[in-house]
Amino acid sequence: MFRFIPRSVQNNTYRSVVNKRFSSIISVHRDSKEDNKNMSFEFNSENIKRADEIIAKYPPQYKKGAVMPLLDLGQRQVGFTSIAVMNYVAKYLDMPPMRVYEVATFYTMYNRKPMGKYNIQVCTTTPCQLCGSDEIMDAITSHLKIKPGQTTPDKLFTFQEVECLGACVNAPMLALNDDYHEDLTAEKTVELLKTIQAGKEPKAGPVSGRDTCEPFSGAKVLLGEKPFDIRTVTRSDL
Ligand code: FES
Repeated sequence: MFRFIPRSVQNNTYRSVVNKRFSSIISVHRDSKEDNKNMSFEFNSENIKRADEIIAKYPPQYKKGAVMPLLDLGQRQVGFTSIAVMNYVAKYLDMPPMRVYEVATFYTMYNRKPMGKYNIQVCTTTPCQLCGSDEIMDAITSHLKIKPGQTTPDKLFTFQEVECLGACVNAPMLALNDDYHEDLTAEKTVELLKTIQAGKEPKAGPVSGRDTCEPFSGAKVLLGEKPFDIRTVTRSDL
């Protein structure tokens, strides 16, 4: 039976052209200077208070349900989810450390490596790609001179390519730490980076002039007075 085998496979010169994605890197712990088993970690007093408030929402026998928000607190305190953070959370919740490692290495919002001050996550899923996310990726790569998965030498930016961030109606978009920047173009993306490099905080939301995700021709519904501005809601209100 004839079976077609490409020449590159026959002569063993085949190379995958698919980029390795930061979010798909298998998280295997290797002791390093910044992240090793001899390091210790404890929540600061504010986070102890916050952690206990979160745990109080669960029945005592299910307090391990708080593992995700507690890992998030630890990550925000240290800058990434180190092994010391994971071990501390395991102890805090009376869980086997392996159960915590499983959570922290499954969900891509837990960063297992030290990050830059600003974590840029560019969505390249279909709606964003159709609206120009490739140009956004190229603009960041050429302005910062780093590739996805890398951090700038000044530790200001870490750059990641990610799957849908749930803001498809404002595509293309990127997340900068907790804020979304939407309706982007390559030029607007470079402006955003320059604003941060100048030491200023950029305004979150669509850069196109839209207020949120209403049609470009203007809102058609919900035209009355807004009960509140969603963009003024902070994490502690949730
Ligand atoms: S596809 Fe980019 S936010 Fe959903």
